[in-house]
Amino acid sequence: MNNFEYKAPTKLIFGKNTIEKLKDEIPKNKKILLTYGGGSIRKNGVYKKVMDALKDHTVMEFGGIEPNPKYETLMQAVEIVKRENIDFLLAVGGGSTLDGTKFIAAAAKFEGEDPWDILSKGAQIKDAIPLADVITLPATGSEMNPGAVISKLETNEKFAFHSPFVYPVFSIIDPETTYSLPEKQTVNGIVDTFVHTMEQYATYDVNTPLQDEWMLGLIKTLMVEAKKVLKNPNDYDARANVFWCATCGLNYWMSLGCAQDWSTHMIGHELTALYGIDHGESLAIVLTRVWKNRKCDKMEKLAKMAIEVFGANEFLPKNILADITIKKTKKFFESLGRRTKLADYGIDKQEAAKKISQRFKERNISLGEKGNIGPDEVHEILMHC
Ligand code: NZQ
Ligand code: ZN
Repeated sequence: MNNFEYKAPTKLIFGKNTIEKLKDEIPKNKKILLTYGGGSIRKNGVYKKVMDALKDHTVMEFGGIEPNPKYETLMQAVEIVKRENIDFLLAVGGGSTLDGTKFIAAAAKFEGEDPWDILSKGAQIKDAIPLADVITLPATGSEMNPGAVISKLETNEKFAFHSPFVYPVFSIIDPETTYSLPEKQTVNGIVDTFVHTMEQYATYDVNTPLQDEWMLGLIKTLMVEAKKVLKNPNDYDARANVFWCATCGLNYWMSLGCAQDWSTHMIGHELTALYGIDHGESLAIVLTRVWKNRKCDKMEKLAKMAIEVFGANEFLPKNILADITIKKTKKFFESLGRRTKLADYGIDKQEAAKKISQRFKERNISLGEKGNIGPDEVHEILMHC
């Protein structure tokens, strides 16, 4: 097992009727900027619940944060934060609203010239405005992690940043808020959770049996609960279980001491930046093709998964077991109604392979747990998508 340190300071408040707890969690003397997306929270009643809970607080609003939140939009909020002396940010919505709010929090305190440097150059964050959230989409794990992913319209770029300063102070997770999700977004969240877990699990083995069991346990649970949610979107327990899978899927607890991959995400972010497909769509396209390409590196873990998750015969050769996991994973995505080829989204694979491998070449980046997925491998992977 590799060395690790871990600290996750976010307080989680999970369950039915928890939005009303906002009133006690945010001090009355704070000037709050409530941030949200394109209006789902107004339609599903979450906005009203939040405003009722905060009726004795000072609250300003900033709406219109898009899916794959845009730097250009978020900088408008940074202006408001500075002008109005906002000292608490409350994100209400999906991962995009929360990620965007993490960026606003850091950018408002950024001392350098251009806050985009936080994303493009990894400029150091020394402080951020405190933030919290009412998260309404189980997917990103952003409610309990220090990461955010931001896009820039001007250059069609999409980058992540991480900082302990942007951990939410608290996150309210009321699974009932997810009843209103369109099926496509529910599926996006299930796929995202699956792939987060796999980015941390399907690497090389450093003898971490407990972590492996947690991660495979999450996958088994997710596969069962996903079916229930799709069959009955108002099944509270299934919604709650899927949400808890999503939060645990990317709070990094399960993979402490393990090697991590993240190449599917890196390639997927490029597909979203260039072609506008959803994050969850990009991942379902790329994951199994990365596995095929790096099967030799991931053999042990993929084989173990075939036995433990898909019930394969443990006496089969590892190579065959790994193939079973690849095939069954693709089947699982398809069982959710998710299409898994670039052509399904009208994307020309040759063009995508050329453009995206070129981008990684220019940035001089290699991906994967072994750093052996260079531009040529990225090209090859995308040609199989
Ligand atoms: O914008 P509104 O009107 O709120 O509607 C949203 C949006 O259209 C809607 N929605 C959210 N909750 C809803 C709802 N509709 C009805 N009922 C509800 N309860 O769903 C749409 C998608 O929302 P979005 O926030 O974009 O989805 P998600 O939570 O999947 O976030 C995706 C973003 O997170 C990033 C992705 O790259 C992408 O930009 N990620 C963030 C990570 C992190 N912070 O750690 C890790 C992930 O790997 C991921 O990269
Ligand atoms: Zn993701």
